[in-house]
Amino acid sequence: MAMKANVGLIGLGTMGAALALNIAEKGFPIAVWNRTTSVIHAFKAGAGDLAAQITPAETLADLVAAIAAPRAIILMVPAGPAVDDMLAALSPILDADDLVIDAGNANFHDTNRRSAQGLPFRFMGIGVSGGEEGARHGPAIMAGGTAQDWARMAPVFHAIAARAEDGTPCADHMGEAGAGHFVKAVHNGIEYADMQMIAETYGVMRDSLGMSAPKIAPVFARWNEGTLRSYLVEISAAVAAATDPVKGGPLLDMIVDAAGQKGTGRWTAIEAQNLAAPIPVIEAAVMARNVSSRRGERAEGEALYGPAPQRAEVSLEDLEHALIAGKILCYAQGFAMMTAAAKDFGWALDMPAIARVWRAGCIIRSAMLNDMATALAEDPARNLMLAPFFAAHLRRSVPALRRVVAAGALSGLGLPALSSGLAWFDLMRTARGTANMIQGQRDFFGLHGFQRLDGLDQPHGPWAH
Ligand code: 6PG
Repeated sequence: MAMKANVGLIGLGTMGAALALNIAEKGFPIAVWNRTTSVIHAFKAGAGDLAAQITPAETLADLVAAIAAPRAIILMVPAGPAVDDMLAALSPILDADDLVIDAGNANFHDTNRRSAQGLPFRFMGIGVSGGEEGARHGPAIMAGGTAQDWARMAPVFHAIAARAEDGTPCADHMGEAGAGHFVKAVHNGIEYADMQMIAETYGVMRDSLGMSAPKIAPVFARWNEGTLRSYLVEISAAVAAATDPVKGGPLLDMIVDAAGQKGTGRWTAIEAQNLAAPIPVIEAAVMARNVSSRRGERAEGEALYGPAPQRAEVSLEDLEHALIAGKILCYAQGFAMMTAAAKDFGWALDMPAIARVWRAGCIIRSAMLNDMATALAEDPARNLMLAPFFAAHLRRSVPALRRVVAAGALSGLGLPALSSGLAWFDLMRTARGTANMIQGQRDFFGLHGFQRLDGLDQPHGPWAH
C-alpha cells in the first residue's frame, strides 16, 4: 500500500496549486483534490520531481483515505459559501481529531462563526500572504485556532513559510478562532494604504513634476535602497519601467486608472469603525479605490471643473520623506487598531510577533517592519508614533509631508491617504483639541452633558432651561 500523506489540500487554483507544491517540496507527502478531476491529474503531471510526493484523489472519500490520521486538510477554495459547502461535505467523512484549515482570505467573522458552530472535527483559519510566488516559495502565515492545533501544524507552516533575514520563519500563531484572518485583513488594509500612498507620490511626479513613467521608475528604485525598502516600492519601480508590448510606450500609461478589489481592505475599514479605532489612512485608501472605479463621473467632473489648476513644485526628497511619514503613520494606526481588537475580542495578539511575521513573504514586507517589531517589543500597547525611534523619523519627515500635502491641495491633486495621515498626526499631537465645541453643541441641542476642565460639577450649560 502506498505511503499515506501527511497533509491534504482541497482546491488547486493558482494559490492552492502553488501551496501544494511548496508543501511537497519541503518533504511532506500531500494528497490533493479539486472539484474538476482533470485539474487534479494535470497538477500531478506538471509537478515534475515533486510528483512522487503527491497523491491525486478523485473523490473526497479517496482524499480522506489517503491521509494519515489524525488528518490535516488545507482548504484553498474561494472565501465565502464555498468554504461552508466544503465543511458540510467533509463533516460526515472526517473524525473528531481531524483538522481542517481554511487558508483562504476568509472574513474573520466567518472564521469565528465556523470555529464556534460545533463542527465535527477541529478547525483553524489561517491568513496566507504573498500571492502565487509567496505560496510557492514562502508566504507569511498568520494562524488562528487553538494553541494545540497550532503546535500540531507549526512544523509544516514553519517549513513552508518565508524566512526573515535573521532566519526566523514568518509563520506564527496569532490567537484563537478568527485571529489569524483578522490580522490578515489588517495586513490587507495596510497593503491598500501602502499602494495608495505610492500611487499618490507617482501622481505628484506625473502630474505636478511632469515626469514620464521611465523617469519615475528609477526614483522608486532609488527609494527602495533606503528607509522605504519594501516589496511594494520595488515592484512599483518595475511597473513604471515596463514597456507596452503592443504599442511600445510605457505600459503604465496604457493601464486603466480604476482599481479592483476583493474586499479585504473594506472589511478592515468597517471593523475599525466598529471598534472606534481610527485608521484614516486605510479608510482613505479604500475610498480612493472606490472613487477610481467611477471613471465616467470623474470625466464629467473634469469637463465641468477643468483640469487641476496649477503645477506645484515639490522636491523628490520631500516626496520620499512624505512617503516615509505616511507609512509610519499608517502602520501606527494599523497596530493601534489591532490593540483595540485584541481587547474587544479577548485575543492575546502579540504586536511584535505580528510585525515579525510581516517582515518577509507577505505583500507589505519592508525593512521598516524590523524597527517596528523592536519598538513594539519595548512597549506593545504604545502607539508607534510615540516610540522614540519613530518620533525621530517623524520629526524629520513630517515637515516634508506638510509641504507635499499643501502642494497637492494648492495644485488640485488629490492626496487622500497622505493628507489623512497628516490630519491624524496633527490631531494626535494636539493636547487641547476642539471637541469642547462638539460637547457644547451636544449639550445645547440634547442636554447630553459635559465635563469641565477644572473638575467642578456643572451638568449643563446656561442654554438649558
Ligand atoms: C496577499 C494579498 C492577497 C490579495 C490580493 C488582492 O497578502 O497575498 O493581500 O491576499 O487577495 O492582494 O487583493 P485586492 O483584490 O483586494 O486588491
